[in-house]
Parts: sequence; structure tokens; C-alpha cells
Amino acid sequence: MYCVSVTVLTLSALLSLTSSEMFTSSNKVQRMVMDEERMLGELKLFIDQKYDWLKKMSIFYFDRLRDVKFRDDSLEGHDLYHPNTMYLAIQKFANDYSPVLGNNLQNFLNIQRESGQIFLADKDDIAGARKSLVILQVVFKMSALDMARGDYLGFQGPPLKSNDAILIGARAFSEEHFNECIEWMNASITLYNSTDSTSLATIPEITAVMGRAYLRLGDRARAEQIYDEVKLLEPAGDEVGALGHELNNQVEFEFEFEPPDETFQNYSRLCRLENRHHIPDPNNPRLVCRYRETLLPYYRFKEEILSVAPFVSVIYNVISDAEGDHLKGFVSDKLQRGQIQGIKAIASDIRTSDLAWIGDQMSGQVSNISKRIGYITGLDTSQRKPDGLTSAEDFQNPPPWVKRSGHRLATFLIYLSDVQRGGSTVFPKIGIAVAPVKNMALFWYNFDPAYEVDLLTKHGGCPVLYGHKWICTKWIWTYGNTLRRRCGLTPEATQLDIEPDIKRGYKS
Ligand SMILES: *[C@@H]1O[C@H](CO)[C@@H](O)[C@H](O)[C@H]1NC(C)=O
Ligand SMILES: *[C@@H]1O[C@H](CO)[C@@H](O)[C@H](O)[C@H]1NC(C)=O
Ligand SMILES: *[C@@H]1O[C@H](CO)[C@@H](O)[C@H](O)[C@H]1NC(C)=O
Ligand SMILES: *[C@@H]1O[C@H](CO)[C@@H](O)[C@H](O)[C@H]1NC(C)=O
Repeated sequence: MYCVSVTVLTLSALLSLTSSEMFTSSNKVQRMVMDEERMLGELKLFIDQKYDWLKKMSIFYFDRLRDVKFRDDSLEGHDLYHPNTMYLAIQKFANDYSPVLGNNLQNFLNIQRESGQIFLADKDDIAGARKSLVILQVVFKMSALDMARGDYLGFQGPPLKSNDAILIGARAFSEEHFNECIEWMNASITLYNSTDSTSLATIPEITAVMGRAYLRLGDRARAEQIYDEVKLLEPAGDEVGALGHELNNQVEFEFEFEPPDETFQNYSRLCRLENRHHIPDPNNPRLVCRYRETLLPYYRFKEEILSVAPFVSVIYNVISDAEGDHLKGFVSDKLQRGQIQGIKAIASDIRTSDLAWIGDQMSGQVSNISKRIGYITGLDTSQRKPDGLTSAEDFQNPPPWVKRSGHRLATFLIYLSDVQRGGSTVFPKIGIAVAPVKNMALFWYNFDPAYEVDLLTKHGGCPVLYGHKWICTKWIWTYGNTLRRRCGLTPEATQLDIEPDIKRGYKS
């Protein structure tokens, strides 16, 4: 049976459309009328929910606004150089904003995290910040309790709370930094406030984590002693249970504690030096004033040779403050990653680096700087294809030029900022540490004059303990330079032996 009901409401549809499927049956209309009350009820629920959400947002908004308006001015300035200030800021943003705005942030506020306009930290950023603190602790041999109290080798900043210490210790544990984990957990107990009911863990639970760390370090006796104490205090605790399980089942750990290797020891020893250049033989290097023939009659610059073989030198005032600000602007604007090439600028940050490729064509200042590097080094500094966004100071991995056997002839690294403590560039094999000096460049050849890759130039960037580090790296390639920097006449020839030829341009 085919039934259709036609009512006034559907009449116009009937007139213009012949398909009966488009009708609203009177049966449906009846149901709609009957259901109206229920529908309004649901609408009210929806409005209430949105209203609550908006109310929450608006309270959050006014809270934050008040905070921003009355923010201690110091937070804007030097205090942000302190790792604890940075850590607390990252944590605050990630914890305060993300839960309120959640995934809706992009849609609602049209803010794009990567656009460079507004940066909002997230969980990954906090995890990264905790890891960075542990690395600072390892490299600079600081005690977790001093760090938690805001004392970083005398640079004083805000203290951390017991809960922060627990979370940093947990991060150290997952990074297999068990000694550091024990220190942070111990610090969290020292800072523990028994009247504070919001602690993330009880003292027996925190102690059990220390037991688990001792076990991984091979100190079974200590772990057992801890277990005997904590199992009485909190037998049902998760960490207490895990410690008991690991002890009773003789769990084998893949982790095997080894003292840091010699390269790392050299690296961190050099990083810990006060912020000035360190060279193995202070009598050897020399400060020279060099002239080069350029388009203008001469370009004069102050160069300090730190090592002759391998050749490493620093050159002062290679750029002006204005040019430095110009280069930083490229990073701040965060031009599309990968589209910018040539000079790479990196802002070393507590967690990571913001970086941008800056091509010679991007501004007159940039191409001027590139040309100037050419005058200083006597090399062809034409722009070559970029080789990806790897860090110029990536110490952990073998430098890419080693793998690709010889495209990066030399490196010209410009510091755009001073750094109060840490942030040096170090060469662990030859005992050189170079502290950042604003507008100074560090220059070295990755190949010796016999055109062998010079493994002694393995280098790394130290973590920044206090300050903000900016660098730009210009890589100078072998293309275009084989005739400018010819081989030495003997296998032992140093850069200084072939330097006069480079200067003369091999004319006669
Ligand atoms: C915590 O530190 C204190 C003081 O340095 C030390 O006496 C104690 O043994 C440490 N506790 C553990 C479980 O390592
Ligand atoms: C412990 O916490 C309470 C409440 O948060 C606070 O009033 C007290 O000053 C704290 N004590 C210490 C020693 O930090
Ligand atoms: C580049 O250098 C030239 C020559 O020194 C100078 O005249 C010019 O103003 C510079 N360009 C910029 C954009 O700074
Ligand atoms: C560590 O430094 C010393 C002294 O500068 C040097 O002799 C040694 O070769 C370095 N070791 C490594 C692995 O770089």
C-alpha cells in the first residue's frame, strides 16, 4: 500500500517538484509537533553546555589577562635566560592553555602553532624541557637540589616545587639517566611539603623509584634495603610493587651503566669552562690583523688563530648589530621551512632550535654578508644547494660532510649574541672551546691542505646554562674552491703554508 499525506506545508513542494520522496508526510509533521518540547529541552542542554564552556573560557581569559598585565617586567627580560624560568613558562603554557582550549585552538582562534605568530607549548615541549634540564645537569655537573632551588652555578632563578622534581626525575629515568633520576627524586623529598595534599606521589613511592634506579645502576643491595623500608609503609603502591617485582623476578635490564666515553668527557669538560676561549697551548695562537684585496682597495679584519692544524680561527666584528638583528628577523618570522637556503640561523633554545634557511637573494644585507665572508676567507662563497635542516652544531651524529665525503670545505659560524654561561662551541679532540661573542665568527676548515677530511674538527655545541644563543652558519663548499685553496706542496703543509697562495689568488 502506498500512502501519502499532503498538507499545507508541503503544497508548495508538490507544485514545483514531482517526486513524492520530497514530501514531508503529515505523519512526520505530527511527530515533529509532538516532539517540540523534547527538542527544546535538548537545545537548552546544548546552550547550557556552550554557556558553561564560554563562561569557563571567559574566566580563563580574564585570569590570564590580569596575569599578563601585571606580569613582573623581569620576566620579559633577563629572567627568561634562566632555565627554571623557561621551564616554568613552558609548563604553565602547556598546562594552562591546552586543557582549556584543547584541540579547538586552531579552529576557534585561527592560531597556527607553526606560523610563528603565536607559539603555544604543548606536552612534547614540557617533556623536552625536562630532558634539557637533565642534560644541563650532566654536562655542567650540577646537583639536582641546587637546580631545584634555582641555583645554576650561581645564576639564581625561581625555585621549583617538589612535583617538578618528581616529573624531571621521572623523565631522567625514562632517558636512562639513573644517577640524575635518583638526585631529582631525593630533591623532591627534601622539598616535599607534608601539608601539601597535591603531591603527585607519596614519599614511599618516590623512594621506590629511587630503588628501581639503583637496581638499574647495579646496586642491588641498596635497592633491597629501600624495598624493605617502603613495602611496610606503602605495600599497595605502584612503584613499590614494581620494585618488588623487579627484585623478586631478577629482572634483567638492557641498560648497562658505563662511564661516559672520552669524547663526551672531553666535550663536557670543555663546556664547563668559564665563558672565554680556551685553547690547549696559549703560546701557540696569535692575533693577526689581515688585509685582503677586494673590490674596495682593502678589507681589514681582526683574526685570532686558535689552532694551525687543523686550522681554526675567530674573527671579530664580522657583522654589525643591525645585520645581526636582520638575520634574527628571518628566524622570528619563521619563513617557510626549507624554502630559505644558504645561511642557516639557529636560536638555541631550552628545548630545541628555531631555524631558517636564509638565501643570498633574500636581501641585500644577506648577500653583502656572504660576499664579506668571501673577502675574509679568500674562498668562493657562492650559494650551493642546501643539504637539509641539520644542525650545524649537531654533536651526537657524525657531521654530514663526513658521510658525503667532502662537500663542506669550511665552516663559517657567526654568533649573533653573547651567552652569559654555556653555549660554547667545542672541539673535543683538540681541546678548543670557543665562547660565543656577539658578531664574532668561528672559522675552520673541514679538510686539511692535503684534502683529507680532518676528523680533528669534530665539534659540538654546549647547552646554554644562562642566556640565549643565536648562531648563523655559512658552509663553504669545495665546488668553486679547488683552484682557490689548492693542496699544500707537502703532505704536512698547514693552512699557514698555503695561505700566501690563497691571498695572491695563485697569480704568480
Ligand atoms: C638523599 O640525599 C641525602 C643527602 O644527600 C642522602 O643522605 C640520602 O642517602 C639520599 N637518599 C637516597 C635514597 O639516596
Ligand atoms: C606547605 O604548604 C602550605 C599550604 O600550601 C603552606 O602554607 C606552607 O607555607 C608550606 N610550608 C613550607 C615549609 O613550604
Ligand atoms: C651592501 O654593501 C654595499 C657596499 O658596502 C653598501 O653600499 C650597501 O648599502 C649594502 N647593502 C645593504 C642592503 O646593506
Ligand atoms: C680528549 O682530550 C685529550 C686532551 O686534549 C686528547 O689528547 C684526547 O685525544 C681527547 N680524546 C678524544 C676521544 O677526543
